[in-house]
Amino acid sequence: MGTVEAKKPEAPGAATAESRDALTLTDQRTGKTYEIPIADGTIRAIDLRQIKTGPDDFGLMSYDPAFLNTASCKSRITFIDGEKGILRYRGYPIEQLAEKCTYLEVAYLLLYGELPNRKQYDEWVQRITYHTMIHESLKKLMDAFNYDAHPMGMLISTVAAMSTFYPEAHQVHDVDVRTKQIHRLIAKMPTIAAFAYKHSMGMPYVYPRNDLSYCENFLTMLFKTPAEDYKPNPALVKALDVLFILHADHEQNCGTNAMRGIGSAHTDPYSSVAGAAAALYGPLHGGANEEVLKMLTEIGSVSKVPAFIKEVKEGKGEKRLMGFGHRVYKNFDPRAKIIKRMAEQVFEVTGRNPLLDIALELERIALQDDYFVKRKLYPNVDFYSGLIYQAIGIPTAAFTVLFAIPRTSGWLSQWGELLEDPEEKIARPRQIYLGYGERNFVPIDKR
Ligand code: CMC
Repeated sequence: MGTVEAKKPEAPGAATAESRDALTLTDQRTGKTYEIPIADGTIRAIDLRQIKTGPDDFGLMSYDPAFLNTASCKSRITFIDGEKGILRYRGYPIEQLAEKCTYLEVAYLLLYGELPNRKQYDEWVQRITYHTMIHESLKKLMDAFNYDAHPMGMLISTVAAMSTFYPEAHQVHDVDVRTKQIHRLIAKMPTIAAFAYKHSMGMPYVYPRNDLSYCENFLTMLFKTPAEDYKPNPALVKALDVLFILHADHEQNCGTNAMRGIGSAHTDPYSSVAGAAAALYGPLHGGANEEVLKMLTEIGSVSKVPAFIKEVKEGKGEKRLMGFGHRVYKNFDPRAKIIKRMAEQVFEVTGRNPLLDIALELERIALQDDYFVKRKLYPNVDFYSGLIYQAIGIPTAAFTVLFAIPRTSGWLSQWGELLEDPEEKIARPRQIYLGYGERNFVPIDKR
C-alpha cells in the first residue's frame, strides 16, 4: 500500500507534535535506545540521523532503492489503496468521476481541490479553449523532426521548447504566472500531440477548433484532412474523455516523481513536464500501452497464448506480460476494470478489435496461473487501453502521447502542491558509496 489515508487534513507536522505514537529502537552496536516519533504511519528518515556509533559517524540512513517504502511528500490530491483496488481524486472515487464528469472538470478538481460550480467550469473551459493554438515557430520546430520520429520524442522536445517561448514561466512562485502556464500546457498538449501524429503521417497539421469540446477537438485535429471533413462519433468522444479521466493522476508514480524532482529545483513547468513525460515514455511506465499492442500482435492468435505465457514464466523477469502487474495495485487496478467494460462499448461502434480475444485469453490464463497469482500480477490500466486507442484509429506509436495529455493536469497539480509545501526542498537523495577509498593518480603510461 503506497498511501496512508489521512483522517482529516492537518497542518504539516501537527500530528507529530501531539502524537504519542513512537518507535523505540535499540542500536545493538552501542546499546543506546532512541524514540522515533510516528505520524501518519510514518517515521521521518532524518530522525534516524541521530543514531551514531561515535562523533565521527555521519548517522544512520535508510536505504530504499526505487522508493519501495518511502513517502517523498505529503499530498492531498490522489488516494490509492493498492490492496483494495481503490483510487480517488480529492476524495472522489474514480468510478464516479469516470461516469459523471468531463476530463476538464476532473483536471480542475485535481488542480484546485474542489469540483467546479457551473460558473467556474464555464470560465475554466473558456480559459483552456482560448490557449489551444501553438506558436507558428513551435510548429516549424516540429517540422524539423525526421519523418519517422516517435511521437513521444516529438512531444517531449516540443514541450521542453515551450519554455523558450514563455520565459516568464520561470517565475514559479508567482501564482498568476503559474496559472497561465497551467492553462497553456493543458490546452496545447492535444495540439502538440495531434501535430506530432500528423507529422509522422506526412499530413498537414489541422489547427484546433475552439467551438469543439476538448476531446472532440483532439480527435478532429487527428483525423480531419484538408480534403475531407471529420465529425467524431460521440461514443468515441465519451470513451476518450473517460480514458483521460482515468489517466489524469496516480500519486507518486515514476513520471510524477520526476515532475516533483525537477520542479523542486524551481525549474519552469514546461521543462518539468518534458522531464515527467520522458519518464512516462519508458516501457515499464506509460510506454506499456504501446508494448501491449506489440505483444498482442506478436502473439498473433489465441492458440499461441499458452506458449507465450510459458515463455514469460521461463524468462524469469526477462520477458514480461506487458500491461500486467503494478507497484501499488496488488489485487486489481480499478482503472483496468472500467476500461475493460468500456472497450465493449467502443467495439460496438468500431467493430471488435481482433486482438481483444488474445487479450481476454491472456488474462484468463494468467489469472489462474500460479506464477501470476503468487506475484499478485493483474491487468493494469495499459492492458486494454491500447485496444481502444487502436479501435479509434490511433496508431500504436501515439498511445503514450494519449497518456501524457491527461497526465499533464496531474503533474501540474502535484507541482503546484510541491511549490506551496513549506516542508519541500530540492530533491537530493543520499547514496551508499561502495567505490574505492582514496587512491593516488597514476600517469597514463604507467597504468
Ligand atoms: N510479467 C511477468 N512477470 C512480472 C511482471 C509481468 N508483467 N511484472 C512483475 N513480474 C514479476 C517479476 O519478474 C518479479 O518476479 P520475481 O519475484 O520472481 O523476481 C515479481 O513479479 C515482482 O516484480 P517487480 O519488477 O519487483 O515489481 P515492481 O513493482 O517493481 O514492478 C511493474 C511493477 C509495473 C514495473 C511491473 O509489474 C511490470 O514491469 N509490468 C509490465 C509493464 C507494465 O505493464 N507497466 C505499466 C504499469 S501501469 C501504468 C503506469 O502507471 O505506468
